[in-house]
Amino acid sequence: MGPLSAPPCTQRITWKGVLLTASLLNFWNPPTTAQVTIEAQPPKVSEGKDVLLLVHNLPQNLAGYIWYKGQMTYLYHYITSYVVDGQRIIYGPAYSGRERVYSNASLLIQNVTQEDAGSYTLHIIKRRDGTGGVTGHFTFTLHLETPKPSISSSNLNPREAMEAVILTCDPATPAASYQWWMNGQSLPMTHRLQLSKTNRTLFIFGVTKYIAGPYECEIRNPVSASRSDPVTLNLLHGPDLPSIYPSFTYYRSGENLYLSCFAESNPRAQYSWTINGKFQLSGQKLSIPQITTKHSGLYACSVRNSATGKESSKSITVKVSDWILP
Ligand SMILES: *[C@@H]1O[C@H](CO)[C@@H](O)[C@H](O)[C@H]1NC(C)=O
Ligand SMILES: *[C@@H]1O[C@H](CO)[C@@H](O)[C@H](O)[C@H]1NC(C)=O
Ligand SMILES: *[C@@H]1O[C@H](CO)[C@@H](O)[C@H](O)[C@H]1NC(C)=O
Repeated sequence: MGPLSAPPCTQRITWKGVLLTASLLNFWNPPTTAQVTIEAQPPKVSEGKDVLLLVHNLPQNLAGYIWYKGQMTYLYHYITSYVVDGQRIIYGPAYSGRERVYSNASLLIQNVTQEDAGSYTLHIIKRRDGTGGVTGHFTFTLHLETPKPSISSSNLNPREAMEAVILTCDPATPAASYQWWMNGQSLPMTHRLQLSKTNRTLFIFGVTKYIAGPYECEIRNPVSASRSDPVTLNLLHGPDLPSIYPSFTYYRSGENLYLSCFAESNPRAQYSWTINGKFQLSGQKLSIPQITTKHSGLYACSVRNSATGKESSKSITVKVSDWILP
């Protein structure tokens, strides 16, 4: 609580002073209809900068003003007050050391933090005269410029339709709302996608290729909005049933046999070939130059994805005949 460079007449008043001021409030009456307005200057302030809560149309003949954090005028939320007589400034329990009240009731908040966002209440107290004292409460909500959010994921490499993924839009920002996009559109309606109460967290129950992203989130408040960079989940899937090319099965002696196998998989599948159940080689391609009738048989391609632990295989029957057509 380092006190700010204080104007000449400022003095720090202790609890006794605070309590005295608080008890004096009881003498004054409910709000007036005065057109007091409060405005943040600048309207968009980012963390670490200063903001002035400017008070316009302050009535004449005032005894003082009190600033509270929040909408309740509890002593605990008392930041600071200005007493016109003697130009005294009083600090309360909610004073952080960065607020300064001016004689025109405006409140300067230096080096704002996320915790400073939210509502403030100005309580103005009219001097007691023949017509009786009048007080008024004016509430203002301070919004900070929203930070650029980022998406954190419980798992960036989920296995297809198996693992739940939790995406969170960071940072947690008070008095802001969150929104999500997938493929640049609002979220599709599916039981696999659920939002938390605040919309800050997105639960994906079993990622499929249709909902792998890209995801973006946005933090929005009445003065600004910012969107994250997109995040796409690296879906681990497959291998699907492999295909063997070419698919024809009749060859003539002396021809070269070239077979290749492909299966959709992420990460890329490991391939191996067997001929009549006997391991032949690892790899996607099988080639045998100048085949003979002895090479007839069952050619099988096996695929395996160690990330998903899944395997699949496909076989074709190769028939090699001599030059004399059957
Ligand atoms: C109140 O005083 C502050 C500090 O001198 C000044 O910046 C601000 O403009 C004043 N507010 C009004 C409404 O005149
Ligand atoms: C603003 O606040 C931060 C964190 O509390 C502090 O590190 C920094 O020195 C402050 N800057 C100024 C100009 O007071
Ligand atoms: C969450 O998002 C839904 C749909 O976009 C919206 O209707 C709701 O008001 C949001 N809730 C909050 C707390 O922002």
